[in-house]
Amino acid sequence: MKKIFILTTLSAVSLMLVQCSPKSAKTVSKPAVKTHEGKVADIKKNFTEADLAEGKMISDSKCSRCHQLKMPESFSMNEWDNILLRMIPKARLDEKQASLVRAYILTNTKS
Ligand code: HEC
Repeated sequence: MKKIFILTTLSAVSLMLVQCSPKSAKTVSKPAVKTHEGKVADIKKNFTEADLAEGKMISDSKCSRCHQLKMPESFSMNEWDNILLRMIPKARLDEKQASLVRAYILTNTKS
């Protein structure tokens, strides 16, 4: 009798364990490729409109010293990423100015 009781208890416990075991976690799949609008929105999360306006002012004054001012629309976000790596040191921007100029330019690209 006792044996049967233990057995039933055991099977009840194992049944509970099976039922309570976590369901295979569903992987939340993110879209592999972000749209341009998505990338712009991501940058804008970290900057206010005033930051972007300041970025424009810095760009207008510091990026027109050696050549005519280049418009954000003239290059894609990817192209700008590479260009800015070269131009930010040329313009001798400090870290804060660089991040503002980057944000202003990248959020005004068309692709
Ligand atoms: C010290 C001078 C100097 C300053 C300051 C400067 N640039 Fe330039 N820029 C150049 C020269 C020289 C070139 C052409 C050679 C090259 O592409 O590296 C150039 C080219 C460019 C180009 C064309 C790149 C291409 O691949 O066609 C862009 C866009 C540009 N600069 C943006 C900027 C921006 C934005 C800033 C401000 C952050 C800036 N520049 C500041 C000297 C400067």
